Amino acid sequence: MTRRSIGIIVNGVTGRMGYRQHLVRSLLAIREQGGVPLADGTSIWPEPVLVGRSESRLREIAERHGLTDWTTDLSAALARDDVEVYFDAQVTQQREKAIRRALEAGKHVYTEKPLAEDTEGALDLARAARAAGVRTGVVQDKLFLPGLRKLKRLIDGGFFGRILSVRGEFGYWVFEGDWQPAQRPSWNYRSEDGGGIVVDMFPHWQYVLEELFGRVRTVSCVTATHVPQRVDEAGRSYPATADDAAYGIFELDGGVVAQLNSSWCVRVHRDELVEFQVDGTEGSAVAGLRSCRVQHRAVTPKPVWNPDLPVTEPFRSQWTEVPDNEEFDNGFKVQWEAFLRHVVANEPFPWDFLAGARGVQLAELGLRSAREGVRLTIPELDL
Ligand SMILES: NC(=O)c1ccc[n+]([C@@H]2O[C@H](COP(=O)([O-])OP(=O)(O)OC[C@H]3O[C@@H](n4cnc5c(N)ncnc54)[C@H](O)[C@@H]3O)[C@@H](O)[C@H]2O)c1
Repeated sequence: MTRRSIGIIVNGVTGRMGYRQHLVRSLLAIREQGGVPLADGTSIWPEPVLVGRSESRLREIAERHGLTDWTTDLSAALARDDVEVYFDAQVTQQREKAIRRALEAGKHVYTEKPLAEDTEGALDLARAARAAGVRTGVVQDKLFLPGLRKLKRLIDGGFFGRILSVRGEFGYWVFEGDWQPAQRPSWNYRSEDGGGIVVDMFPHWQYVLEELFGRVRTVSCVTATHVPQRVDEAGRSYPATADDAAYGIFELDGGVVAQLNSSWCVRVHRDELVEFQVDGTEGSAVAGLRSCRVQHRAVTPKPVWNPDLPVTEPFRSQWTEVPDNEEFDNGFKVQWEAFLRHVVANEPFPWDFLAGARGVQLAELGLRSAREGVRLTIPELDL
C-alpha cells in the first residue's frame, strides 16, 4: 500500500480537546489502524507537528507517544513545505488570529468550534480561505455520535411522519472549584476569556438542528449565571462573568420547534449527559450520546390526566431500543478521516468555514436575544 504522508500542525495539543480527542483518539488512532485508506489503495498517513507555548509539556507529550516533531514556534512550523494542514484546538480567543496566519501561509485549515468569537470574524476567515484557495473544516463531532446517527437513520427512514418538536437537555453539575476541583477549565466561566455556555454549545446545536431537522430560522434565549463565584485551577476565587446556563427556543424550517436547555448547573437525572426527544405524527424517539429509544404511534399508551390516582403506566419501559446495526467509531476521528480525504482526494466535506460561521452566528444571536429579551430572525449567511 502506498503511503501519502501529510504534515499537520496540532496547535493547542496540551489542552483537553487537542490532546485527548484530536491527537490521541484521532490522529494517533488513525496511524494505529494504518492510515486513512483511499479507493486507489493509497493510505493517508498523518504526521503531527505538536505546537504550543510550553516546551516541557510538548516534549513530555511527544515522548509519551514516540513523536519527535514539536515546536513552540508557530511561524517556523507554518513555513514548512511538508506541513499542509493547520489544526487549532487553542482557547477560542486565540483562534482567529492563528488561523489567519495559517491561511496566509497557504495551509488547509481544520479547527475546533467555535470558528471565531463573532460572525463577522468567522465570515472574514471564510472569505480569506476562499481567496487562498484552501480547504477548510470545523469540528462538528456531535453529528457522529452513535445516538444521533441512529436518530438520523430514523429520520431518513421516515419513522417520525411529520416532525413536530425537539426537546433537548444538555448538562451536568460543574463543580465550583472550592471543596472539589472544577472538571472544566476556568476560562469557560469568564466572558472576557471567551467563555460562556452559549458560545460553547450553540455552535453544536446549530449543526445538529440543521443536519437533522432543518435550518434554524429564529432564536429566543434566556441565559443565566447561576453560580456567580468560582475557584480557578490555582485555587483563587474569581467572579464568573459568563453565562453558565441557557434556555433556548428555536424555530426551524418546516415548522419544527426545538427547545434546548444547556446548563453546567444541573444535576443529571437522565440516562446520558445530553438527550433529545423528538416527537412526530407517526412516532417519537429519545436519543442520547449512544443510545436511542423509540415509541411508534401504534404502541403509544393513552394516559388520562388524573392527579388523584397513582401513575398507571410504566412509561419509561414502553420504549424500544434502536439496535446499533453497525460499528460506531470515535466521532472526532471519523470527521478527521473525512477532512483528510477531502484535502488529499477531493472528497466532499460539507462542514467548512461557512458552516462554522453559522454556528458562531447562532451563538451571537442567542446572546443578543437574551440581552434584549427578544426573538430574533436568523439571516442567511453568504460570502
Ligand atoms: N467539540 C467539542 O465537543 C469541544 C468540547 C470542549 C471544548 N471545545 C473547544 O476546544 C477548544 C479548547 O477547549 P479545551 O476545553 O480543550 O480547553 P483547554 O483549556 O483544556 O485547552 C486550551 C489550549 O489552548 C492553549 N492556550 C491557552 N491560553 C492560550 C493563549 N493565551 N495562547 C495560546 N494558547 C493558549 C492551552 O495551552 C491549551 O493547549 C475551545 O475552543 C473549545 O470551544 C470543543
